[in-house]
Amino acid sequence: MKPWISAIHAYVPGKSSGADGRPLIKLSANENPLGCSAAALEARSKVAGAAVYPDPDAKELRSAIGTLHGIDPARIVCGTGSDELLNLAAQGYAGRDGDACDEVLFSRYSFAVYDIAARRCGAVPVEAADKDFGCDVDALLGAVTERTRVVFLANPNNPTGTYLPASEVARLHAGLPSDVLLVVDQAYGEYLNADEDDGGLALAAAHDNVLVTRTFSKIYGLAGERIGWATGAVHIVDTLNRIRGPFNVTVSGQAAAIAAAEDQAFVDAAREHNTAELARFTATIEALGNHGLRAVPSKANFLLVLFEGAVSAQEGLNALANAGYAVRHLPGQGLPQALRITIGKADDMDVIAETLRDLVEGSA
Ligand SMILES: Cc1ncc(COP(=O)(O)O)c(C=O)c1O
Repeated sequence: MKPWISAIHAYVPGKSSGADGRPLIKLSANENPLGCSAAALEARSKVAGAAVYPDPDAKELRSAIGTLHGIDPARIVCGTGSDELLNLAAQGYAGRDGDACDEVLFSRYSFAVYDIAARRCGAVPVEAADKDFGCDVDALLGAVTERTRVVFLANPNNPTGTYLPASEVARLHAGLPSDVLLVVDQAYGEYLNADEDDGGLALAAAHDNVLVTRTFSKIYGLAGERIGWATGAVHIVDTLNRIRGPFNVTVSGQAAAIAAAEDQAFVDAAREHNTAELARFTATIEALGNHGLRAVPSKANFLLVLFEGAVSAQEGLNALANAGYAVRHLPGQGLPQALRITIGKADDMDVIAETLRDLVEGSA
């Protein structure tokens, strides 16, 4: 194995069962508790057979995405989830030449795939300090060196749910050398209200060195189909097209995503559900502040809950597993004191809130 590959810690996916193998309700992978659009399910079920390769260029899907977002389809590339596209962005623009390694920069506590994407092409991952668990633009800019080739920004960020407004994203872009690629990962972008747009798509439309990635896995509820897309200057799209899998989005995935893109009523309903339940759950955690729980303010479909009192995150994880829920404990990402809890259905959020309340109040 190449030494930079052996240095990779494989991605740890969210669990769906307890330590004893018992199935749990999965709130550990930021999936959509409402499922997906009925139209997407229907389109997927109508796909005939599986013997023929999909459209390698996902033409109809790129056209549907272009129509929805007002983007020329020539500036869009689809991927096997946005994961593929994040990896391709690193591979296309960073690597190593003998002992000289490029650097891929991102904020502490950001998406775990960035570290893997950097290492798998032989580049060096560099973490900038966070600010209150979120991205600190000054720290990122301060960490840029002449070897920096790619900067990843998840906005909103996973696993913290933090978010940078458009003015800060623009300031980050303006402070980067023009030969550094800024990747704005908007996997949770659709959860933002219209007035919270971070300006990433406009930057990608206007500049030569910005790529925005999006996914059908989160608000669209199609994580199982593995469909992502990215947009940027034609030369960046060309780079990704050269190295992507030739048939990287399945026939059923393309059909489902086209129908999903056309069903914005489902997206609006999913956003409304998330906004309401996220606010309700955040308020519950804040009310337990005197028992050592703290919520990191989130703009995504999950909440990072910090255990800073007598009860540990591990105890929280165990109590929630006993109550029937899998959530995400993050010691491997430097957050042993935190649980990331995906916003589920209202009834499930009630049980989770009650379980955590009983746990911390019981320990008082
Ligand atoms: C910030 C962020 N980016 C990208 C992804 C990748 O999603 P997918 O490959 O399903 O599009 C995720 C998934 O959890 C994520 O949290």
